[in-house]
Amino acid sequence: MAPCSLRNMSVTTDSAQQDRAAQPVKTDQVIVLFGATGDLAKRKLLPGMFHLSQVGLMPEGFRIIGAARHPISSDEFRDLARESVEGSGRKSDTDGALEKFTKSLSFVGVGDGFGPLGEAIEAAKKELGGDTETLIYLSLPPKAAAGTVEEIGKLGLDEDARVITEKPFGTDLASAHELNERLHSVFHEDRIYRIDHYLGREAVQNLLALRFANGMFEPVWNRNHIDHVQIDIPETLSIEMRGSFYEGTGAFRDMLVTHLFQLLGFVAMEPPTSLEPKPLGLEREKVFDSMLPLRREDVVRGQYVGYREEDGVDPNSDTETLIAVKAFVDNWRWEGVPFYLRSGKRMAESHHVLTIAFKQPPRRLFPIDSALIPEDFGRDHLTFELGDPGSISASFLAKVPGATMQLGEAHMKFTYADAFGDDQAALDPYERLIHDVMNGDRTLFTSSDAIERLWEISEPVLEDPPPAIPYWRGSWGPKEIDDLIAPRRWHLPSDHI
Ligand code: BG6
Repeated sequence: MAPCSLRNMSVTTDSAQQDRAAQPVKTDQVIVLFGATGDLAKRKLLPGMFHLSQVGLMPEGFRIIGAARHPISSDEFRDLARESVEGSGRKSDTDGALEKFTKSLSFVGVGDGFGPLGEAIEAAKKELGGDTETLIYLSLPPKAAAGTVEEIGKLGLDEDARVITEKPFGTDLASAHELNERLHSVFHEDRIYRIDHYLGREAVQNLLALRFANGMFEPVWNRNHIDHVQIDIPETLSIEMRGSFYEGTGAFRDMLVTHLFQLLGFVAMEPPTSLEPKPLGLEREKVFDSMLPLRREDVVRGQYVGYREEDGVDPNSDTETLIAVKAFVDNWRWEGVPFYLRSGKRMAESHHVLTIAFKQPPRRLFPIDSALIPEDFGRDHLTFELGDPGSISASFLAKVPGATMQLGEAHMKFTYADAFGDDQAALDPYERLIHDVMNGDRTLFTSSDAIERLWEISEPVLEDPPPAIPYWRGSWGPKEIDDLIAPRRWHLPSDHI
């Protein structure tokens, strides 16, 4: 059975020991990187694979073949990789390590057909000798990815290779379904790894540990005690240089159907029967199955002022750069508990926050109109800062010392860095996930059914979206997002730093 990183979770206070627990990749790999000269390859994938090699998490033998329609020479590809690694801060700690890494790189153009790629893969396998596996990383837009997979099928790699595809996994239910069918026409579902880098975050796995390794949280993790949940990813970033991509995507498809819903799956899932990939995946899928279709009135779309002047953007664009929704998981545990999800570009602060806001106690012993308790919803709450390595804080009411019974807000904060050291974040999410794929570990990847279900619940809003409301850059978005959550309010860790 494939080794599983979560199954191998062990109890330790020694972070270095945890790193050593990562499974080495046993079988040599021929990695084919489509989109090898693209932005993601430069920022994350090439530096990430170099870092994996540095920390001993690549197999003993590997070859990385860059592939793209427009060819460059292998030497140019090596230069590009060198620059990418040097620019990424993933420095080498051993003399000559980067040179050694770049020796494993080569490049093949596929503009005139995939024959030369097939030959390059065969040659790499021969060079490595012994047992090898092939990993195909499609860092490509969905349409190009599907066409590429069909070409790969003609090379007869379907039995031996694993394939990684990048979001967006379609743009609606019909396109996602078509994409899945095209992928399945070549690869069995077990060989397809849909990568969502949020699931490679240390913090997501911490959430599982927190919920299921302790007796403290799970008893209150339900509708009896929780008033509402917030998953909030505001970003100060703009759309950067991605105007034309973003125009066809928007915050709904870029962040909600992907990262935010995936996080919701981990927050709302039932305890799995084990940490094996299958039971974990099943529990997340059950959450998605229980989600109610989104309603237009529970969705706010915003667009930052100036977006229409960005390069590659239609001057009359209605694309949203901010999305906020109220979602419901209609099952025994969560019936009636709203999940507020929000993400936007060019907002006032950047965070990755999960807030679990608790209900009031059944009897209020402290006078409600005394102005001591200004807010009734989620005054006591748990905040998870999901950055890597992240933190958890509890906010609650306590008595202010003194002669009168006066309540004040109090906070307790736990940071992973203080508890276990900074190297908890030693692996970037992409690195962790690529490493998992090489080990055949599907735990942190999503099935075709789950993806299609998320599009299905999104359909009512995609078919009839509310208009995008302008908001100022550097703000918290249009006032309608506060109306959406009222009488509650959005919580941020900076509220109580
Ligand atoms: C990407 C989105 O998937 O995630 C970007 O396409 C977004 O628009 C990014 O900025 C956020 O990721 P992170 O890891 O920086 O929070």
